[in-house]
Amino acid sequence: MNILILTGSPRKNGTSNLLLENFINGIDKEKHNIKRYDTAFLKLDGCSGCYACENGNCIKKDDMQEIYKDLQNAELIVFVSPIYYYNFSAQLKKVIDRFYAIDEELHTKKEVILLATAYNDEEKVIKPIQVELEAICEYFGWNIKGEVLALGCGEPEDIIKTKYLEDAYNLGKNI
Ligand SMILES: Cc1cc2nc3c(=O)[nH]c(=O)nc-3n(C[C@H](O)[C@H](O)[C@H](O)COP(=O)(O)O)c2cc1C
Repeated sequence: MNILILTGSPRKNGTSNLLLENFINGIDKEKHNIKRYDTAFLKLDGCSGCYACENGNCIKKDDMQEIYKDLQNAELIVFVSPIYYYNFSAQLKKVIDRFYAIDEELHTKKEVILLATAYNDEEKVIKPIQVELEAICEYFGWNIKGEVLALGCGEPEDIIKTKYLEDAYNLGKNI
């Protein structure tokens, strides 16, 4: 399987990265190709809504051009984000908006996994990102294969006490 990982945290040693590391540790590297983009550290502009992409090419020649290639080939997309005001971080959302340039090509069979972390431990914190992801996946015809939504995990010292890291490892193992 070609796996595309898109992370959205600007904290290199944060909670969502820990979750992802465990997920990656679980993956059988002999069987799967992994491509990872840490969007917070790339040169990436937001979509400007110019609609010049109607011919299938984005006019912005930034790091998104590299991501497009892996996005087209991806059989599994893993979104990894801290919850920022009930949703994906802006760093990651910016990339999702840029999907628009190759929108037509993305209506193909793909699996999706969401790994997210939040400070708050109430279920309502995680609902909006789930609803958004479900809507995006329904639109593209993608299947949500699994999720690890780590509530009450504002800092690495919180998440290491939880079962979420093991859940992420097992999810990686079972893809
Ligand atoms: C801009 C910003 C917005 C946030 N919004 C929320 C929120 O709505 N709900 C919540 O529970 N935590 C919120 N948090 C806390 C982060 O989701 C939490 O600390 C997360 O574990 C950070 O992940 P990271 O270490 O991978 O960056 C916010 C943090 C920041 C910096």
